[in-house]
Amino acid sequence: MAKPKTLKRVTSLLAKSNPALWENTKYLLYRDLLRNPASRRKLESQNPSLDDAQQDIIKNLFERGIAFSSFDALLADDERWGQLSEAAAMFAASEEVRAGINDYQMNFQEAGPGKEFVVKKYPKHSHIELASVWMQFGLDSKILDVVNSYLELWSKLMHIDLWYNIPVRSDRPTVASQCWHRDPEDEKLVKVFLYFSDVDEGAGALQYIPGSPAGGRYQHLWPRANMVDAVYPPEHEIEKKVPRSEWVSGAGKAGTLVFCDTGGLHRGGYCTQRERILATWMYVTPASLFSRRFHVDWTEDESRLSPVARFALT
Ligand SMILES: [Fe+2]
Repeated sequence: MAKPKTLKRVTSLLAKSNPALWENTKYLLYRDLLRNPASRRKLESQNPSLDDAQQDIIKNLFERGIAFSSFDALLADDERWGQLSEAAAMFAASEEVRAGINDYQMNFQEAGPGKEFVVKKYPKHSHIELASVWMQFGLDSKILDVVNSYLELWSKLMHIDLWYNIPVRSDRPTVASQCWHRDPEDEKLVKVFLYFSDVDEGAGALQYIPGSPAGGRYQHLWPRANMVDAVYPPEHEIEKKVPRSEWVSGAGKAGTLVFCDTGGLHRGGYCTQRERILATWMYVTPASLFSRRFHVDWTEDESRLSPVARFALT
């Protein structure tokens, strides 16, 4: 076994001489030796029982990397849908969104390569109460059991948000996540999207290459160089490798629920005709090198959290 001093010297040399290789090595150490085995054992000992709707989503996630369902099919809770859609409507009508739209339109010519085209309820480092409807949805066992069964371990809830995508003029070039990319947060991850407006191509529907996440037939296309940066293939190259007929569109009515491994190739949010309003949750493995994008405001409800939900937040 190498002495700690030698190990330190070797790792810092590697980090200096080849940062990308070091990031990958660190990640693999983290994933396979330190962090993920424990959370895999937790899932094995929990062995969640899954209903037909959940099993169908998991099957599609494994086969294609993307699965479609609906709030009704998975949760069938009118009262809760009422609370969520009311909260989404309040956000869409808020001063915050109005100011975001105004700002975007005023500065359209100068708009840079960022994500000014989307107004977010929870920017990075936001505080979110445990009792919030968005938090509670993300911790619901119906959702967590699906995500964890696909990732084959107990996952971490890394991101929660509600997005208002602003319609853009169709002569505006695509930028940021409107372009094809692989998310950088983990080798395998799940994003859940819940629609609060009808989403079609004119409302920036997600586009996805099935079979492009880790383990799929297209995993070799534009792989990540490291575990830190997103990968953006040249915009018009995808079609040369994967025929359009294989692309999946995320179009769907309000109430649509999408589970997607966004480590696979995807793009979305280029709204040319109408706005897109959706909520999103991101789950990663404990080995992800990224930190949670929100802070939890813990309350006394904490004692009612299931072990799997508590794990997701800690
Ligand atoms: Fe993405």
